[in-house]
Amino acid sequence: MAKEVHIMNGDALQESSYIEESSTQCDAISLIFSLKEEVGALAKVLRIFEERGINLTHIESRPSRLNKDEYEFFINVESKNIPALEKIIRTLRDDIGANVHELSREKRKDAVPWFPRSIQELDRFANQILSYGAELDADHPGFKDPVYRARRKEFADIAYNYRHGQPIPRVTYTEEEKKTWGTVFRELKTLYPTHACYEHNHVFPLLEKYCGYQEDNIPQLEDVSNFLKSCTGFRLRPVAGLLSSRDFLGGLAFRVFHSTQYIRHSSKPMYTPEPDVCHELLGHVPLFADPSFAQFSQEIGLASLGAPDEYIEKLATVYWFTVEFGLCKEGNAIKAYGAGLLSSYGELQHCLSNKPVIEPLNLERTSIQKYPVTEFQPIYYVAESFKDAKQKLRKYASIIPRPFSVRYNPYTERIEVLDNTKQLKNLADAINNEMGLLCNALQKIK
Ligand SMILES: [Fe+2]
Repeated sequence: MAKEVHIMNGDALQESSYIEESSTQCDAISLIFSLKEEVGALAKVLRIFEERGINLTHIESRPSRLNKDEYEFFINVESKNIPALEKIIRTLRDDIGANVHELSREKRKDAVPWFPRSIQELDRFANQILSYGAELDADHPGFKDPVYRARRKEFADIAYNYRHGQPIPRVTYTEEEKKTWGTVFRELKTLYPTHACYEHNHVFPLLEKYCGYQEDNIPQLEDVSNFLKSCTGFRLRPVAGLLSSRDFLGGLAFRVFHSTQYIRHSSKPMYTPEPDVCHELLGHVPLFADPSFAQFSQEIGLASLGAPDEYIEKLATVYWFTVEFGLCKEGNAIKAYGAGLLSSYGELQHCLSNKPVIEPLNLERTSIQKYPVTEFQPIYYVAESFKDAKQKLRKYASIIPRPFSVRYNPYTERIEVLDNTKQLKNLADAINNEMGLLCNALQKIK
């Protein structure tokens, strides 16, 4: 239990920007708390909410990830009575002995949502996942396989305990897992020369040479992350489950990509209902090694920081139709650059057939396009180039209502909020230095 206490104890919570003690008004709050598994424990807690007149709008339970004797409960409550809620949280902690973690508060409509300012703060996302890696839906191919589920928990635990700056733990993949990878790798590789964009085909041989991309070997995230860092500064970070769109996009602002490490179930090697290591390594990684694509991805992340919820949804949709399912022009041809396409043998062929609708990338329109998540996309958007997509994104980001601009400082690995003259002067100095360097270099070339 020590680890969980470390994460959820009072000190950590007091530092959290999710806790706004001065806030007096709110509409919805999400909490996670854990309780000893004993008869009547939950009923006791529910009574406390009832007695204080706080209404629960949603409740989910799951076995505790770190303590076999406990259950965790995720709840949403609706309340304008913050003092009552504070008392309940205190009672849960002090009298019931529960670990309580407050996930979010929707505060005043004009409040800027919290966002990480330094790369270390991405550690906070680790315990804000919406579902844990070992929890599978009933229609998941591995649902009835206890060995697979136990394996998924091993991977989830690695990610849950990972902290920024640590090397990503290496995994010894089983023969069965390697066989699954081999099938996916072999099949997809036959399509890449004709269906994948230039950037993917350019980087792929380098991944084979330097990162162990082979039919009989699943590359290690740590090796791949180091390779990406040397190309574009992007890095991988293992993730234990589903992150919220806000948190996931926030990682991109730091050039951090949250990656799964487990592999799909062996019974269906050509199908996965969720991202797995095949999707990340074959679909995403090659593109993150391209400077222009890396910058485009980071722009989406930067645009998301502090953005209102409705724009987070729009940016997540833009991400879906570009980073996941994007097509791009190459001369007169159209090629795939989206990871969801490059990691799916079926959809990679489908997207370039004459079946789907193909439209030019137009972010006002793309950002509100509805899409299915469990079947092939009926519509794809084509970018002129990554540079063009990036310019469109910057223009789109400028309409997002937030009272500041942001910039990532790669030296300090921090987000600079450009809302005061000192920050603007620092930026002007940095640009001035770069301009001096550029002029100097141009003169030398002459
Ligand atoms: Fe993905």
